[in-house]
Amino acid sequence: YPIFAQQSYENPREATGRIVCANCHLANKPVDIEVPQAVLPDTVFEAVVRIPYDMQVKQVLANGKKGALNVGAVLILPEGFELAPPERISPEMKEKIGNLSFQSYRPNKKNILVIGPVPGQKYSEITFPILSPDPTINKDVHFLKYPIYVGANRGRGQIYPDGSKSNNTVYNAPAAGIVSKIIRKEKGGYEITITDAPGGRQVIDTLPPGPELLVLEGESIKLDQPLTSNPNVGGFGQGDAEIVLQDPLRVQGLFFFLASVSLAQIFLVLKKKQFEKVQLSEMNF
Ligand code: HEM
Repeated sequence: YPIFAQQSYENPREATGRIVCANCHLANKPVDIEVPQAVLPDTVFEAVVRIPYDMQVKQVLANGKKGALNVGAVLILPEGFELAPPERISPEMKEKIGNLSFQSYRPNKKNILVIGPVPGQKYSEITFPILSPDPTINKDVHFLKYPIYVGANRGRGQIYPDGSKSNNTVYNAPAAGIVSKIIRKEKGGYEITITDAPGGRQVIDTLPPGPELLVLEGESIKLDQPLTSNPNVGGFGQGDAEIVLQDPLRVQGLFFFLASVSLAQIFLVLKKKQFEKVQLSEMNF
C-alpha cells in the first residue's frame, strides 16, 4: 500500500530512479502516463495514469480466497506543482476523477501525490488534477522543462514492511532433504516437514493459504527449490513524462515575431509591384 511506502521511505524515488513500491511489489507490469506537452503558470491540467491488466483475472487475498485486484499510484511532480484545489477543477475533469481522494506523500511534500488502494475495475485509469505554479509568485520555480515520474501498481505486494512474505508469492524450500510430512491446516495452508537425509535433522516450514503446493510427501528436494506455485497476477511499473512550464510572454513574443515576418514579406511584394509599375511607365516602345 502507498501508506507502507510513506511510513518507510522519506522519498519515494531512490537515487537510482527506482520508485520504492518496487521493493515489495516484485513483479513488473506496464504503466503509462500522459500529460500535456506544456502548461501555462497557475493553470489546472490533468495527468492521466493508466494501469492496464486483464480484468477477468483474480488474485489470492490474505485469507487465501480469490478476489479482484486493487490499484494504487504515486505521482512525483516537479517542485511547486500540486493537487488542484476542488473549486478550480472543471465539471468535466471532476467526472473523470470520480470519487478518488488524493493525498500528499508527506504534509510538506505537496508535489508528491499518492492514491490507493482503489478498485482496479473502476480505476485502471486514474486522472490526477494538477495545478501548475506561477514563477512570478513562487521565486523557486522557473520557466523550464521538468520531468514527472509515476509508479503504479495493481495487485497485492509480496513483502510486508516487517520483511515477512505475503501469501501472494512463491515459497521456497528452507533446506534440502526429503519431504517427510505434509499437514494441511484447518484454515488453509500447509505445514511441511523436511528431513535432511543423512543427519535426520528436521525443518518445519509453514506455508500460508494461497499459493498451490507443488511437492508431494516423500519427494526429495533441493535447497531453495520452489515448494509452491507463484500465485501473483499483479505487478508494479514506473514511467516518466516531460512537461514545459511555459511563459505566456514567450508565446506572445513568438506570435508577434511571426506576424512581423509575414507583414514584412507582404510589404516586400507590394513594393516590388509598385516598382514594376514605374518600370512599365518608363518603358519606350
Ligand atoms: C497491497 C500499492 C508500496 C507491500 C497494495 C495494494 C496496492 C498497493 C494498490 C492493494 C492491492 C490489492 O488489494 O489488489 C502500492 C503503491 C506503493 C506501495 C502504489 C508505493 C507508493 C508498498 C511497499 C510495501 C508494500 C513499500 C512493503 C513495505 C504491500 C503488501 C500488500 C500491498 C504486502 C498486500 C497487503 C495485503 O493484502 O495483506 N499495495 N504499494 N507496498 N502492498 Fe503495496
